[in-house]
Amino acid sequence: MTDTASRPDPAPRPLRQGSSIGQPLTRRDGVLKVTGAARYAADHSPPGMLHAVMAVSRIARGRVAHLDVAAAEAHPGVVAVMTPRNAPRLARHPDEKGDPFTFRLDLLQDDRVRYANQPVAVVVAETLEAATEGAALLAPRFEAEPPATGLDADGRFVPGAIGIGDPPDVVKGDVEAGLAAASRRIEATYETAAQYHNALEPHAVVASWDGDRLSLEMPSQGLAMAQGRIAGLFGIDPGDVHIRSPFLGGGFGSKGMVAGPQVLGIMAARLVGRPVKLVMRREQMFGPVGHRAPTRQTLRLGTDEAGALTALDHHSLTASSTFDDFFEPSGGVSHTLYAAPAIATRHEAVRLDTGTPLFMRAPGEASGSAALESAVDEMAQACGMDPLAFRLRNYAEAEPVSGKPFSSKALRECYAQGAERFGWSARPLAPRQMRDEAGLLVGWGLGTATFPALMFQAQARAELRASGDATVEIGAIDMGQGAWTSLAQIAAEELGLDIDRIDFRIGSSDLPDGGIAGGSAHTATAGAAIHGAAAQVVAQLAALATADPASPLYGAGNAGVVARGGRLLRRDDEGRGEDFVAILARAGRGAVEGRGTGAPDPAARDAYAMHAHGAVFAEVKVDPDLGQIRATRLVGAFAAGRIINPRLVRSQYYGGMIWGVSFALQEQAVMDPRSGRPMNANLAEYHVPVNADVPSLEAILVEEADPHVNPLGIKGVGEIGVTGTAGAIANAVWHATGIRVRSLPITLDRLL
Ligand code: MOS
Repeated sequence: MTDTASRPDPAPRPLRQGSSIGQPLTRRDGVLKVTGAARYAADHSPPGMLHAVMAVSRIARGRVAHLDVAAAEAHPGVVAVMTPRNAPRLARHPDEKGDPFTFRLDLLQDDRVRYANQPVAVVVAETLEAATEGAALLAPRFEAEPPATGLDADGRFVPGAIGIGDPPDVVKGDVEAGLAAASRRIEATYETAAQYHNALEPHAVVASWDGDRLSLEMPSQGLAMAQGRIAGLFGIDPGDVHIRSPFLGGGFGSKGMVAGPQVLGIMAARLVGRPVKLVMRREQMFGPVGHRAPTRQTLRLGTDEAGALTALDHHSLTASSTFDDFFEPSGGVSHTLYAAPAIATRHEAVRLDTGTPLFMRAPGEASGSAALESAVDEMAQACGMDPLAFRLRNYAEAEPVSGKPFSSKALRECYAQGAERFGWSARPLAPRQMRDEAGLLVGWGLGTATFPALMFQAQARAELRASGDATVEIGAIDMGQGAWTSLAQIAAEELGLDIDRIDFRIGSSDLPDGGIAGGSAHTATAGAAIHGAAAQVVAQLAALATADPASPLYGAGNAGVVARGGRLLRRDDEGRGEDFVAILARAGRGAVEGRGTGAPDPAARDAYAMHAHGAVFAEVKVDPDLGQIRATRLVGAFAAGRIINPRLVRSQYYGGMIWGVSFALQEQAVMDPRSGRPMNANLAEYHVPVNADVPSLEAILVEEADPHVNPLGIKGVGEIGVTGTAGAIANAVWHATGIRVRSLPITLDRLL
């Protein structure tokens, strides 16, 4: 074990010059990651640190009847065994619900078991091996009750809100009348499987108490929210909770909220009075850290003779846990995607003995678009229309349910550019018409991608010093998407400085609140805060220069200057300008500071519907004898407003589309209905694409300017790639085989 407490983290550094918005910079943290110099939470080992290992439940419902605490305590190296009998009492009960963003946690406050893999004890020891052995020696015995495990469970109800408080279901127009008047109708039910995020980096925490002050190395997608939640549980001031999260090995939503096991690590550190490291094992992540709930969605569509929709009805059945509320909002996509005079979406749910579901990459949109895009394809087929022509026939010029104009919408261009690149016009209308040279069936499918352009809240601070160097600080998060790079590019652009001149700081809770890295809104929100802070710096420089008769900018006025290359330039004559250094020197100023806020603009959001869009074209090959399915080619064309870094954006689209492949063909958690335990809680049997499963991928960045969405015109690119793709692949499988599989993932047995 190495003592790494006193060694500072190496700062991510640029790999190349030239930094402005739109440049395809390589990830600034890339070299640190591939050389192992980037230290993740679990890489930290402060002096005196102990290791904690959880024992978890093997039943899904009931209580813990016995733990052999004496055996565990007797094991050499074991320092403490934390169970409900000695777990620190908390200032706030973990079932106390503050707001929809406060999720109930299982923190050893009693002996109840609410889901499989729920923590039931924590063993703290001098070594990981001793803690692991101690946890095994606990040999828990349980009193089990029969679990509810699937969507056929009793007790359907209508949730009061979907997602975590989104508006309830909507009805526009008369769907039944629209269906009755239709000349063609389809009704179909689609199922999507439960999925678990499975970020490469498991949830972890290294917790060190100093009196009532708490230091945490902990991956988190939202530092200020985590600070608040932890402070509330321990009855301390949020300012006394310091969280460092400079690097994450993925999150996908599962690190948006503090996870119960992370809090258990903090409790264990308090119990033993020494720093504690707790890292979850892969199988333990199938329970207490969120998942995407299964869905069963019934779509009813009707069209007139010309293939124009007369009605769209989208009913979704999903599940939450027995003790908390998160309802996968699958119907949302039907509010926004296709023009229909009558649209209704409804959600029902059952309560299952599982951990509480959570947002997972494109929560609602991924599962919802998988069903909607399949149904739209089936409707096109019923009309005898090409699937692209059908979608264009029903193109929404305004947001269908709200009637609002779109702040921008380049979906038509996405369809056109994607179709051209893919070669869609050569697609035969009927299925089972194409074979490759090896005799495999070939099919082509299309799915429309969509994701809302959200904005949350963030703050940033920028300081320009007399040396001409700057510091930009924001508690933003890079969970792999490239924030270290793209946000620094925004800072460089807005300050008019080369990226090398900026000490760019993120990933720590002692920086200004950077908001949550989620909802595909982080670049837009944090970027707006950085934009605001930099604008204040530039405005102060301009005020100093334009008021000074000794400056070449004298009299140019604030509106008349622009910052570029470390200089302020007159807008009307860019040959006239002055160095930042000279301006500060003559004014006798050591530094100027600016602060900015990113937040949604309520008036703009009231006036416009804001969404990113895309079109995903998929090719699959199916073995006619064995049913084996391969996705072989994906072309996605996406329009998402202003692109900060095309290299990183492509990477987000590729990642999203690979998740779509996974959604359509591979991922599913399989529950044992007898025990309520996931039967494939490991990466050998919970299938996600490996390199050999990833098809040829192309992402086309369709130009789109949006003057309304936020100051920088950014819509967000993190989640849209998974939407549309699963439907496109399902549609391609139908086109290859003539078999419509309505249950995802589509596995080979369903084609035989
Ligand atoms: Mo995401 S599911 O908003 O981290």
